[in-house]
Amino acid sequence: MTAPDEIRRIEADATPTRFARGWHCLGLAKDFTDGKPHQVLAFGQKLVVFAGTDGRVNVLDGYCRHMGGDLSMGTVKGDEIACPFHDWRWGGDGRCKKIPYARRVPLRARTAAWPTLVQDGLLFVWNDPEGKPAPEGVTIPRIEGAERDDWTDWHWYTTVIEGANCREIVDNLVDMAHFFYVHFSFPTQFKNVFDGHVGWQFQQGIGREDARPQASKSGVTQLLGNTSVAAYHGPSFMIDDLTYHYSDGDVRSVLINCHYPISADSFVLQYGIIVEKAAHLADPAAMASKMGDFIKIGFEQDVAIWKNKTRIDNPLLCEEDGPVYQLRRWYEQFYVDAADVTPDMTDRFEFEIDTARPNEAWRAEVAANLAARAAR
Ligand code: FES
Ligand SMILES: [Fe+2]
Repeated sequence: MTAPDEIRRIEADATPTRFARGWHCLGLAKDFTDGKPHQVLAFGQKLVVFAGTDGRVNVLDGYCRHMGGDLSMGTVKGDEIACPFHDWRWGGDGRCKKIPYARRVPLRARTAAWPTLVQDGLLFVWNDPEGKPAPEGVTIPRIEGAERDDWTDWHWYTTVIEGANCREIVDNLVDMAHFFYVHFSFPTQFKNVFDGHVGWQFQQGIGREDARPQASKSGVTQLLGNTSVAAYHGPSFMIDDLTYHYSDGDVRSVLINCHYPISADSFVLQYGIIVEKAAHLADPAAMASKMGDFIKIGFEQDVAIWKNKTRIDNPLLCEEDGPVYQLRRWYEQFYVDAADVTPDMTDRFEFEIDTARPNEAWRAEVAANLAARAAR
């Protein structure tokens, strides 16, 4: 047996009880603007999301400050949410506006309200454990193509991940090798840049012949490769300018990969895609749903990993791995008070993986898989 002092130990602190500061996407805005209250479990709390007659989307703490009623079971009346228990009316600013049976609203009748942003068809909520508004410059960039006629509508997916902290998905940003082993892609170039609250991933890849369904081999269209320029804008919202290079032309898309925490050990993963209506695409909406469903398979493969893996604070890395420790330092800025953010969390940092050795190994593996398939 190996002596215990020769064994590398897995270290892991408890998952943080604090939730990241930043803009979090709750999903498609239209799902919240139907005049009904919506319950959202996020940041360790129950929230109520509703749009009043003024069209503004509001996010409040889900529990009424009167006697604890569940506002998400209430009714939208005018611009306010009415509690189902005694009809107290709460405005989007968190203030109690009216108690129909009372002469006066008590002083300090105020509940928690989250700043919201509706942009490009998506609803965002600003979470800050210190209760401060989003600093100037900490925004979600506009998405080219969203809500434009020459692009498709969002093809959107929502899934609840139980038993994993959301750091697992953020780790993916720098994890080149898992794209080959988990997602059947083949990265040939892989670079990360961290700068302020933004974390970039630049990726070039080639199509994997061994991952292609055999039936499509005789078809006209072949996936030759992909170019992906992706960035997390804050802790949870990634915009990926993703172009697939097919034998009959490029398909430009924007892929969103975002999440919000439910608790320390669960989160809601959402992703969605829009596709440019290029001339060579007969049915761009069908293309968006085909690409979305393909990406869904990839995420499901991630989920299977997360559900069964363990949290690890001291990953043992090789030279061909991405900058996991630097990524985690960058990610830490969202979990400390704004005053405690240090330059090493936000300073610009670049790292490009040398793909020569991984590519050689992967080419050999693809060839072996094809040979095995041909022999069957
Ligand atoms: S508990 Fe909400 S009105 Fe009484
Ligand atoms: Fe992944």
